[in-house]
Amino acid sequence: MISIIGCNKGGAGKTTTATNIAVALVKRGNDVVVVDADAQRSFAKWVGDREEQNQEPGITLMEKQDNISQSLKALDDKYDHVIVDVAGKNSRELITGATVADIIIAPHQSSQLDLDTLSELEEQLKVVRDLNPKLEILVYHAMASSNPKVRENERDEFIEYIREFPDFKLLTATGHYRKVYKDAIPLGRSVLEMGNKQAIEEINDLVSEVYDGVK
Ligand SMILES: Nc1ncnc2c1ncn2[C@@H]1O[C@H](COP(=O)(O)OP(=O)(O)OP(=O)(O)O)[C@@H](O)[C@H]1O
Ligand SMILES: [Mg+2]
Repeated sequence: MISIIGCNKGGAGKTTTATNIAVALVKRGNDVVVVDADAQRSFAKWVGDREEQNQEPGITLMEKQDNISQSLKALDDKYDHVIVDVAGKNSRELITGATVADIIIAPHQSSQLDLDTLSELEEQLKVVRDLNPKLEILVYHAMASSNPKVRENERDEFIEYIREFPDFKLLTATGHYRKVYKDAIPLGRSVLEMGNKQAIEEINDLVSEVYDGVK
């Protein structure tokens, strides 16, 4: 199964989400390869830090750019899961990858600037879906406020907004803004390997919602 963690907004939490999904799927007994398709190499650097810290389990990494569709197809034959981290813009890697992917997980914050980029994503993916009708686009509400006073309202606004995009499915699982997500990155770890129970629970919820029933 090929999953692209992608959207058209920089800093939406793509790489962070990719690190957490990759570790979660490996811990669940899957053969996983991650393709870093972003010239900034953030995912590859995280893998380097993970190796330096001898953090187990190891994460298998490939780096591919430009037209990545054939590479993804070949990897899909060998692994249970191919997880692709792309750049935060309208990238060639997102588009070529989407022509062969099963799902795109699109992290978005509940801010107008993030959400505005969804219209652009919808336009791009309309064309891609003609070539790849099985492609599903799952919007992940990321870096949501953990403040109980604004939490519910923010989520409601997010749900309302995503309703305008019938091609996109909104995931029930929600990620919140938590310092532990930042702290895990230089250690080469997933939040599953840190001590914050709430973050562990939200990543497990995300991975269960998206991947349960799929090997
Ligand atoms: N849930 C979270 N809580 C707090 N900080 C977060 C969370 N998720 C990501 N971050 C931080 O937000 C910043 C952007 O995250 P990340 O690099 O994962 O986004 P990205 O979408 O991959 O960015 P780019 O478009 O540059 O590739 C980083 O500093 C990261 O540590
Ligand atoms: Mg990134």
